[in-house]
Amino acid sequence: MAITNSDEGVFAPEPLVTSSLIREDEGEYTLRPQRLQDYIGQEKAKGNLDVFIQAAKLREEPLDHVLLHGPPGLGKTTLAGIIAHEMGVNIRITSGPAMEKPGDLVALLTNLSENDILFVDEIHRMNRAIEEILYPAMEDYVVDIIIGKGPSANSIRLDLPKFTLIGATTRAGSLSAPLRDRFGVQLRLELYTPEELALIVKRSAAILNVPIEESGAWEIAKRSRGTPRIANRFLRRVRDFAQVKAGGVITASVADDALSALDVDYLGLDDIDRRMLRAIIEFYHGGPVGLETLAATINEDAETLEDMYEPYLMQIGILTRTPRGRCVTQKAYEHLHLPYPGEQQSLFS
Ligand code: ADE
Repeated sequence: MAITNSDEGVFAPEPLVTSSLIREDEGEYTLRPQRLQDYIGQEKAKGNLDVFIQAAKLREEPLDHVLLHGPPGLGKTTLAGIIAHEMGVNIRITSGPAMEKPGDLVALLTNLSENDILFVDEIHRMNRAIEEILYPAMEDYVVDIIIGKGPSANSIRLDLPKFTLIGATTRAGSLSAPLRDRFGVQLRLELYTPEELALIVKRSAAILNVPIEESGAWEIAKRSRGTPRIANRFLRRVRDFAQVKAGGVITASVADDALSALDVDYLGLDDIDRRMLRAIIEFYHGGPVGLETLAATINEDAETLEDMYEPYLMQIGILTRTPRGRCVTQKAYEHLHLPYPGEQQSLFS
């Protein structure tokens, strides 16, 4: 298996297949497991995937198209790489926003080899004209290209090799129904438990060759908001502190010092989380408040709050989403050391 970008320069201009995600994640990439058995957590998705992969291999067919959805940083790209590795095929990586015109996707599709995987990250951000190329490609392994303009325009149909599309999205609800329905396998990734994250942190520490105590791994895990990408980033920063200030070993106390210095509190909340909760309490009496209003109040992007901040705040029971907007719970007041006004506040506001 090879995770490729446009290095070969054969079929695509630079930005198309070198998704920014790969660049940002270069360090992370070395920590990524390559086999399903080394992938920690997501037991349900992993169990199902294992069956589908084995069945496809037995039938010597490409795997059905796969949609991976869930909050960012949970390992969607990692899982796509693992699928490619387990199937013994190549993976081409791009993203919805990297493709500007239908020809970009056609170039990618026509350069695939039999059974290859095309991974499209942020597939919900693909434009409509490009999406329409995908329908016949996914269903019948063909693309229709229009040659020429006006009355003399001609449509020709190109056969494609059989391939697997893996789409990743943080918002499955933003996908059009025709696109979503064409994915035979749809897997939702969930936030990880602290226990799973502690295993990931210990595995990554072993790869990075940094000694870590059980309690040190646990401290990082508890504060990584259910997200391996965050856990691995914190591990690197804690390692810096450990090497400079504590003889190189990651203990709970070094992890606590390092994460506190990074303004990550004991629940893993950062400045944006705290500003969000504080705004709901101070300006909107604990809620409900609409997402857009809240985002404008704290000068952040609504989509970022919804995709990156809210899932964890809801998982730890500090924030709720109601039909009338976002509300904080008693736990938010306690966490911010603010007086809780009692039940009637949220009932009558
Ligand atoms: N690194 C990042 N995500 C991982 C996972 N789910 N299992 C093992 N290592 C990982």
